[in-house]
Amino acid sequence: MRPFVIINSAMSADGKISTTLRKQVRISGPNDLKRVDTLRAHSDAVMVGIGTVIADDPKLTIKSDALKAMRTRQGKPSDPLRIVVDSSARTPLSASVLGAHTLIAVSQKAPQHAVKALSEKAEVFVAGEHVVDLVALLSHLKQRGVDSLMVEGGARLNFALLDLGLVDEIYTYVGNIVIGGHTAPTLVDGVGFTADFITLDLKELCRMDDGLLIKWRVKGRT
Ligand SMILES: NC(=O)c1ccc[n+]([C@@H]2O[C@H](COP(=O)([O-])OP(=O)(O)OC[C@H]3O[C@@H](n4cnc5c(N)ncnc54)[C@H](OP(=O)(O)O)[C@@H]3O)[C@@H](O)[C@H]2O)c1
Repeated sequence: MRPFVIINSAMSADGKISTTLRKQVRISGPNDLKRVDTLRAHSDAVMVGIGTVIADDPKLTIKSDALKAMRTRQGKPSDPLRIVVDSSARTPLSASVLGAHTLIAVSQKAPQHAVKALSEKAEVFVAGEHVVDLVALLSHLKQRGVDSLMVEGGARLNFALLDLGLVDEIYTYVGNIVIGGHTAPTLVDGVGFTADFITLDLKELCRMDDGLLIKWRVKGRT
């Protein structure tokens, strides 16, 4: 058993989610940013990989006071549970994502001193020997009441989740810029597929700001 998982990402017209410097780029317009905030507000948890934490230092909280208030009225915490997938407990102690209602998922190989320091700033969950066991993590999340999980990147975490068959839908906002660079991250990196590709069903397509929002449902493997 696992939550319903949606990968949400913004990418350039050429499929890049960042630059060769791996720093955050504004790809979305104002309407897409509102859509992302709304999706967060309707999710029980949001998740990123440690690469994204190191690159972008995201806070992963809801920006709109009205959406926070909506959650509170529904008897939920004002922000969804924030999760970082971080095998070696490399999350900087100054990271904006740390705080109440944050879970850092580490593996057994994470140094004890780093785990101890992080556990003073967030909840720590151990799963997997060398890398975080994503199946065990998602099962744990489901058991504690997380029914909907929004994954906000990055490229390697997206690949790992898709490879394990743990993704239900992919939402991509395609913005009107070209980034280029063969080492710039794309929506899905990792080692990639050479056969048995992931197949998708087109669920929705809509023009938004100066780009396009595409919603895909994951069908399976070829
Ligand atoms: N445009 C967008 O919407 C958007 C959104 C998010 C991020 N980004 C960009 O994406 C880039 C970061 O992507 P990224 O690929 O470098 O990093 P990432 O996917 O955020 O994190 C990858 C890291 O997660 C850790 N991890 C732990 N368990 C794992 C598992 N089972 N499978 C896979 N990874 C696991 C690994 O590090 P350990 O082995 O150390 O644990 C891995 O290197 C940045 O440039 C950021 O700006 C863009």
